[in-house]
This record gives sequence, C-alpha cells and structure tokens, in this order.
Amino acid sequence: MIKIKVNAHEKKGIINKNIYGHFSEHLGRCIYEGIWVGKDSPIPNTKGMRNDVVQALRDIKIPVLRWPGGCFADEYHWRDGIGPDEKRPTMINTHWGGITENNHFGTHEFFELCEQLGAEPYINGNLGSGTVQEMQQWVEYMTSDNISPVTDQRKENGQDKPWKLKYFGVGNENWGCGGNMTAEYYADEYRRYATYVRNFGGNTIYKIACGPSGDDYNWTEVLMKKAANHMHGLSLHHYTLPGDWSKKGSAIDFTEAEWFTTLQKTLQMEEMICKHSEIMDKYDPEKKVGLIVDEWGSWYDTAPGDNPGFLYQQNTVRDALIAGINLNIFNNHCDRVQMANIAQVVNVLQAMILTEGDKLVLTPTYHVFKMYTVHQDAELLAMEMDSSEYRNEEAVLPQISASASIDAEGKIHISLCNLDATNEAKLDLEIAGIMLKQVRGRILTADLMNEKNTFEEPDSVKVEDFNHTEIVDNHVHAIIPSKSVVVLTIE
Ligand code: AHR
Repeated sequence: MIKIKVNAHEKKGIINKNIYGHFSEHLGRCIYEGIWVGKDSPIPNTKGMRNDVVQALRDIKIPVLRWPGGCFADEYHWRDGIGPDEKRPTMINTHWGGITENNHFGTHEFFELCEQLGAEPYINGNLGSGTVQEMQQWVEYMTSDNISPVTDQRKENGQDKPWKLKYFGVGNENWGCGGNMTAEYYADEYRRYATYVRNFGGNTIYKIACGPSGDDYNWTEVLMKKAANHMHGLSLHHYTLPGDWSKKGSAIDFTEAEWFTTLQKTLQMEEMICKHSEIMDKYDPEKKVGLIVDEWGSWYDTAPGDNPGFLYQQNTVRDALIAGINLNIFNNHCDRVQMANIAQVVNVLQAMILTEGDKLVLTPTYHVFKMYTVHQDAELLAMEMDSSEYRNEEAVLPQISASASIDAEGKIHISLCNLDATNEAKLDLEIAGIMLKQVRGRILTADLMNEKNTFEEPDSVKVEDFNHTEIVDNHVHAIIPSKSVVVLTIE
C-alpha cells in the first residue's frame, strides 16, 4: 500500500514552466531533417520548419528551447550562420560525425523557429573556441536597437527590430568538450566573458554559467564561490545510462534487472540536486541563482548500422518512466530548479519526436511531457509519501515517484510513476484541506517494458483515460498498474 498525503493549502512555490524545456543541437538529424527541411522541401513547412514537428511541440506547450549545442556550441561561430545561404561558409562538425555543416540554419532561423513554437529562445554562446568580442557582438546583433555596424548587418539580413533574448549560456561543458578547463580557470573566464554579455535597450539577459557534470560538487563550490554574483543560473548535466560510457546498454533490448538499474540511476538526480543545492545555499541563501538542468535524459548505445556520431535512439516505456521520475524530481525542487532541457527534441537521445522522411512518430517520452503540462507554472503542493519498495536482489527503490501541484483554477494534479515492472501499487491518497468532488486520470503504460512506437505502429504506447479510482471517506483509492505513468486531476 502506498500512502500519500497532499496538503491543498501548503504551497511550496511556482513550478517554473521552463522545467519542461527542450534542447536542440546541430547533431545528427536533430536540426537538419528533424526541424529544418528548407523552404523548397516537399515536406510541408513554414519558412523551412517542418509543420508537423512544430505543431507537435506546440501541443506540449514547449516553453523554452536551447540551441545550438551542446558541444557544438563551443565550436560554433555565429557569423557563419547569417546572410544569404550561398554565402554562408561550411564547417566540419567535428564532435558529431565529422559531417559538413552548411550553416543554413543560423540565428535568424532559430528565432523564426522559436516564434512558430511560441517558445523562449535560450542561446548557448561559444567560450571554448570563440573570442570575447565574438560573444559580445552576437548579443549586440540579436538584441541591440542602437546604430552600429553589427546591427546594420542584422537589418541588411532582413531583421529590422532586435529580437528579445532572455537566456544566454556562457560556454557549455567547459570541463570537457568546451575546453577541458579546471573549475578555477573557467570561473575566471566566465567572469570575463559574462562582463561583455550586455543588456541592450529593454532586453535583460539571464546569464547561465557552465555548471557541473553529475556529482562534481567541487565544480559547483568553485563556481559559486568565485562567480555567483555574476550569474543568474548555473547549469547541471546528468544523463541516465543503464551501463557506463564504454557500454551504455541497448535502448530496446533489456532485462528487468537492467530496467531496475536504469531507474536506480535516474533517481540519482534527486541526490545530485539536493547536494548541489546545499552548496548553492551556502553562497546564495536567497536562492537567486537558478539551477538549470539543461541536459538530461537517457543515453544508450546507437543501434548497429546507425552512425555512432548521430546519437539516434529508440524510446520505450522505460524512457517514459525516466521522464516522469525526473520531472517529478524537478517539480519537487522548484525552489532551486528554474529550468530543465531534456536532450534532445527530435531524433537525438531521449527525443520527443522521431522522423523518417516526411513521417513522424511521437515517443512515449513525448506523451509524458504532454500529460505533465498541467504542472507548468502551477504551485507545488506539500506532500508526504509512504511508498512500498521495489526490490532487485539487495537493491531497493521506492515503488512510486510523485509530485503534486495546484493550478490557477484550483485543480490539483498529481503525477505518479510506478517504477515496478511487474507489480501494481495500491494507492491511498489523502488531500488535506478540501472536500473531494471528482477525480479524473490519464495513464501511459503497455504490456511490455520495452514497448515502443514505430513508423509502422505509431500508437503502440499511448495515453488513455484512467478510471480505476474511487473516492472513499474523502480519500482517493486507486490501483496504479506496473510500469506506468499516471496523472490524476482532482477537484
Ligand atoms: O546532448 C549530447 C551532448 O552531451 C552535448 O552536446 C554535450 O553537451 C553533452 O556531453
């Protein structure tokens, strides 16, 4: 039996909708094919962006989109991606497959995409291989209304008025692909580059410093100590690998033991957020600096025959659980976590959408994001949980992961993940402070742990109404099926 008590009157802060953010990189078929097909493509598009992908992302209320990388960001030179296509120089995308990048998708195209999506742009600048001047002028190009050679160039390229840009990352993974720097060296470099990331006119930039990889608490300590006063956000990257970097594991062929280990590893996000937050609290007790989890999600071995530099992978019910668990963790830490961007939006890693030519398939992860839209900008509610266990030999996990919020209309939403691949969970849910009138639910599950959606069978994993609930003595009783994600709406 799982006992959950939610207090309808104990509000714990706003769940920033940007926790439901996404990440797009010039990597494999994410930008090219996945989003950008060009204006002359037979695939229906608006100004070069695939209509089907844009619509699908609008349907999950995509709040913010990070671009152009990732590792790509620290070798991207923005001037290569402006002006007439035929004059844009090519480059070798050394990180991702060594392919030739034609730079046809650049700054103007990214802002056009964000406008079509109704999403805030989050641009990641190049600190690793770019100059301070280059970064300074990119921000000027995008956001300044003053007269200068740089803004004249923007106007010549068809954008008269500056864009609004809030989120700007000053380097990416500078402990690794972004320059292999030490924390001390990067902190100094961050301070130097960030000085020249200016606010022009009415545009105010929220500056995001490169944060730690996983459990590198020293990186957070050094950055907070040396540069907290110069940043608005500190990023965190943590991926879920069933195995290790040398043998990550298959996206679709796995045993229940591997299912268990994968979820155990994804739950490490909880510990990491707690420990990084504790360090941040020391230097920033008022929680002014947001923790920005701008890369997270599952990472598997690429399927035999696929380009290993393209990071294309399938997505199963296990990924739905990974998404649901992490989103619950972020919701529950919304005092510090101000944004999260799952990697990546189309055709790369734990994608929302897979494409093949003009076909598109929505993944189990996409459906979880859709179910969880109810939490966007809602208020987190206090919750106590007494969960039964999910065991694998000596290892133990809580069987249920959950978070609860109340929206502007006073509806309460509770998202629940049953981690157990075999056993259902009996739920006794108390909502203190209100008389329950109605409970509705939606569920994502399947008979198999590794059920997936394919171009031939796009609806093998889908969301359905969940009616196995009743109200008894002002408590909600429900049976949560094994390996499922459920969202209850209570009025
Ligand atoms: O998302 C793929 C890569 O993972 C990103 O480019 C990089 O930042 C991280 O290592």
